[in-house]
Amino acid sequence: MEVIRCLLLLAVLFLAGAHGGEAQPLVPGLFTFGDSSVDVGNNDYLHTLIKADFPPYGRDFQGRVATGRFCNGKLATDITADTLGFTSYPPAYLSPEASGQNLLIGANFASAGSGYYDHTALMYHAISFTQQLEYFKEYQSKLAAVAGSSQAKSIVTGSLYIISFGASDFVQNYYINPLLFKTQTVDQFSDRLVSIFRNSVTQLYGMGARRVAVTTLPPLGCLPAAITLFGHGSSGCVSKLNSDSQRFNSKMSAAVDSLSKQYHDLKIAVFDIYTPLYSLVTSPESQGFTEAKRGCCGTGKVEFTVFLCNPKSVGTCSNATTYVFWDAVHPSEAANQVIADSLLTEGINLVT
Ligand SMILES: *[C@@H]1O[C@H](CO)[C@@H](O)[C@H](O)[C@H]1NC(C)=O
Repeated sequence: MEVIRCLLLLAVLFLAGAHGGEAQPLVPGLFTFGDSSVDVGNNDYLHTLIKADFPPYGRDFQGRVATGRFCNGKLATDITADTLGFTSYPPAYLSPEASGQNLLIGANFASAGSGYYDHTALMYHAISFTQQLEYFKEYQSKLAAVAGSSQAKSIVTGSLYIISFGASDFVQNYYINPLLFKTQTVDQFSDRLVSIFRNSVTQLYGMGARRVAVTTLPPLGCLPAAITLFGHGSSGCVSKLNSDSQRFNSKMSAAVDSLSKQYHDLKIAVFDIYTPLYSLVTSPESQGFTEAKRGCCGTGKVEFTVFLCNPKSVGTCSNATTYVFWDAVHPSEAANQVIADSLLTEGINLVT
C-alpha cells in the first residue's frame, strides 16, 4: 500500500518537474457519475429531500463549509483526486463554478438518491444516470468551446471516469418497494442494474472515455440504517443484505471482465469498497476506530432521507475521527481515507 502511494507521489513529483514546477495531475481530468457517496454538491441545486448543505455536514471540510457532501469532510473520491495530484476538485456540474476554466479538470455529475435504475432517481428528485450521461454530452460541447476541439478530445480520452451507483437502488428502492421486491428476485434486479451499467460504459466509450473505474456495493447489511431498519433488533450486520451485496459485486466484476475483453483500448477496473469497509466495521479497533455501529451525526441510526441529521440533532459526536460512519449510511472522512488507500492499489493500472 505504502509502496503504491509513494510511487504515485513520485509520479506526480516527476510530472511537476517536467512542467517547470507547476504540479500536473496524473490524468488531465476526473469525471464522476453516481449517488450520494460521490455527490459533491449537485444536490444543492435540486428540489430534493436528500440534501447536505447545512451543518453539521462539512464541519471538518476546508473552510468548514457544508458543500452538499454527505460527510463531515472529504469523500473517498476527493482523496483519490488529491492523490492524483489535483489541487482543486472537479466541480459539481450544476454549480456556478462548473464553468470556464474549471471545466478543464473534469466535472462531477453525481446526485444523491440516484441509481443505476432511473426509477430510483425519479423517487428522490435526483439526476438519473441517463441524465448524468446527457450532462456529460453537454459538458463535452462546453469543453470544446473553452479548450478547442483537439485539446477537449485529449482531455476526454486521458481522464479517469468513476462510476458509483447501486446502494440507493437497493436501500432506498428495492428493499422498501413492494413493486420491486415482490416481482423480482435480488438476482434479477441485480442483473438488470448490471446490464444498465454495461450499456452506460458502452455509451461512455462511444463518447471517448478510455479509463473507467466502477465501485462495488459496500456491505449494505453493515450500514447503521440497514441494521436499524432490517436487523430485527439485532445490532450485528444483516447477513442477507451482505450476501446480496457480494452477489451483485461478482456480477459487476464479470461484466467488467467482459467489457475489457470487448474493448481492447479501454482500461476498466473495479474499485472494491466492500472489503475495506467490512474490515473496518468488523474490526474497528485494530485500525484506530472506536465506533462502527452508529454514525456520528444525530442518533447515527436512521439519519438519511426522512431523518437527515441537522444542526438541532441531539447526540452528534464531537469528534468523528474514530467513527467509521458519519451518518447512518455514509462513511466518515476517516473511513473514506482507509477506503481511498485501498482503491489506490486497484487503480494504479488505470492511471499509469
Ligand atoms: C479529534 O481527535 C483526533 C485524535 O483522536 C485529534 O487529532 C483531532 O485534533 C480531534 N479533532 C477535533 C476537531 O477535536
